[in-house]
Amino acid sequence: MEERIKSLEDQINSFLITSKDDLEQYRLQFISKKGVVGLLFDELKSLTPDQKKLVGKSLNELKKLSEEKFKSAQDILDSAGSEKSIDLDLTLPVTPNKTGSLHPLNLTRYRIIEIFERLGFNVEDGPEIEDDWHNFTALNFPENHPAREMQDTFFVERPVRLESMPGEQSGGNSDMLLRTHTSNVQIRLMKDRKPPFRAIMPGRVYRNEAISARAHCFFHQVEGLYVDKNVGFSDLKQTLYHFAKEMFGKETKIRLRPSFFPFTEPSAEIDISCLICHGKGCNVCKYSGWVEIAGSGMVHPNVLRNCGIDPEEYTGFAFGMGIERITMLRYSINDLRLFSENDLRFLKQFKQVI
Ligand code: DAH
Repeated sequence: MEERIKSLEDQINSFLITSKDDLEQYRLQFISKKGVVGLLFDELKSLTPDQKKLVGKSLNELKKLSEEKFKSAQDILDSAGSEKSIDLDLTLPVTPNKTGSLHPLNLTRYRIIEIFERLGFNVEDGPEIEDDWHNFTALNFPENHPAREMQDTFFVERPVRLESMPGEQSGGNSDMLLRTHTSNVQIRLMKDRKPPFRAIMPGRVYRNEAISARAHCFFHQVEGLYVDKNVGFSDLKQTLYHFAKEMFGKETKIRLRPSFFPFTEPSAEIDISCLICHGKGCNVCKYSGWVEIAGSGMVHPNVLRNCGIDPEEYTGFAFGMGIERITMLRYSINDLRLFSENDLRFLKQFKQVI
């Protein structure tokens, strides 16, 4: 019933009344006892007291809206003094018709891009179906190293072609995969172009994980890369500190914890002070006062070398953060699955697009 009320509200708002005939038509449709609003009131009688309470309020508002529109259209027609029609002022603003809302993950992605663009970072893009070399080998993951298993990978088969191209392995082989992180785009960028680089790379990534409130088989990351002469660890720290304050508010603190990634040395995990309890301890930060938002580090010299960049001349930092995680913190969302279920009751709570 709520949905029908909402749709009637849209119909009332968009009903154009420019003549007395239109007004009569509108009256019959919405105001008269046998009109659609009247019929809803009849239906109300058959609901339970609890439901009545809930729906009754919206229904009364709908009735009020329909009557107000009738009254004001009647006044305008009367004052125009014309029996048949009034002049339409085409310069008047129209009643906006809401068509949808931005997905919360997009809202976060746009905000991240906005913050880094102001620091001079470009936005770059790369493939989601990737080969082993760009996803692992070039990033200094050794063959058979457990680090590869850290990221349970979906492999994809190349299509079987009757005549394979020279040098191409035939179907069934699997060095192709759904990228497990956005770090592949770092490699593509550094291999294809000349330093310096200052870029962020948002995109979707895939891992073979069981779906739950805290894990999903696909999610989104933003990779960051800054390579130039004399880039140091302090640049990394300052950049991410600036980001945290812009994203989560001026009082936000950051903490760097030593960590390990094959493609950075040294590596650090970035935590921010918990937004919910401000460091006092709550279940979001697991009573530690800190929440992890990104992995980061100084680009490993092997990675630079793999891309044809001289590590004696250039240094750089990189980071990778999860867009879902940041969105969950921003809007206090506690279940990852909400992002991909497309439940309108969830999606409608975010910024409307008109
Ligand atoms: N690729 C890492 C992951 O998916 C995240 C990451 C960590 C990216 C450190 C980086 C980095 O660029 O420097 O878990």
